Amino acid sequence: MLDKINALLNEVENLQARDAGELEALRIKYISKNGAIPALMADFRSVPADQKKEVGMRINELKTRAFDKINSLRAQIESADNNSELHDLDITRTAYPISLGTRHPLTLVKNEIIDIFSRLGFSLAEGPEVEDDWHVFGAMNFAEDHPARDMQDTFFIESHPDVILRTHTSSVQSRVMETTQPPIRIICPGRVYRNEAISARAHCFFHQVEGLYIDKDVSFTDLKQVLLLFAREMFGDDTQIRLRPSYFPFTEPSAEMDISCHLCGGKGCSFCKGTGWVEILGCGMVDPNVLELNGIDSSVYKGYAFGMGVERITNLKYQVKDLRMFSENDKRFLQEFISAN
Ligand code: PHE
Repeated sequence: MLDKINALLNEVENLQARDAGELEALRIKYISKNGAIPALMADFRSVPADQKKEVGMRINELKTRAFDKINSLRAQIESADNNSELHDLDITRTAYPISLGTRHPLTLVKNEIIDIFSRLGFSLAEGPEVEDDWHVFGAMNFAEDHPARDMQDTFFIESHPDVILRTHTSSVQSRVMETTQPPIRIICPGRVYRNEAISARAHCFFHQVEGLYIDKDVSFTDLKQVLLLFAREMFGDDTQIRLRPSYFPFTEPSAEMDISCHLCGGKGCSFCKGTGWVEILGCGMVDPNVLELNGIDSSVYKGYAFGMGVERITNLKYQVKDLRMFSENDKRFLQEFISAN
């Protein structure tokens, strides 16, 4: 009998259970009504009287140890169940945090420009970067051999003189006008190309957003008001604008718009070269010739147009000194805009 008890004690000490099911099986095997330990108690009656004391103590010890062991196994299993960290552990995940990419500063600023003008009722229009001479120049009132064509150094394809890379997104204005009757209220964001030597201040490609509004009673005042609102949304409520007379073949009258330098608040600093003003865009009333060239009756309709460089606006907002930074894909530079994403 004592041997049996010792053997069971040994077994009980070494019990293992991986889950609640296994544990229940052990409970049944050892301590349930029909288990090994109650069976021993039944045998106790046949133990000779002089051994009863010792055997009784040993059986009690075995009973206590078995209960303790099963309770401690239960506690272990329950705490593993509650340990959600272990549960949620994804052993297939890469060891290092994956750093996300960031939107390019030009995209951020372009989206902001689009957002401001869409709130004013402008819809998006896009067109091809590889264009024909007509949409870039002809339809925009640049007569053949007009010196104004030299204002924008153009990339030509030698074998196909009519095929060019667009030098401005005004070509999209023309594409929309030739297929749509007014009212037209669009903004055209896109990449443009000019044959310029690459430096800190010039690049052979850059980005523009142009706007066009054509309807029956459109005035220069409407243009000025929309541009003032844009400038304040983009650069802050204190921003002032001023319009200076200028020349573009496709607008008459034409103007260039300056905003009060938002770095010095208009007092004059090195950024605005002491003037207190920085130029941000070109604009004007659509030349009646342009309307006619694109199939719109200039005796009924009038319009205004404006165009800005996205790089220029980005420079003003973020003081990027060297234009080349925008196309070098240096991650250190791009990551600087992480908070603007
Ligand atoms: N297309 C002009 C440029 O690229 C900008 C502009 C657009 C000016 C519309 C006036 C009106 O320089």
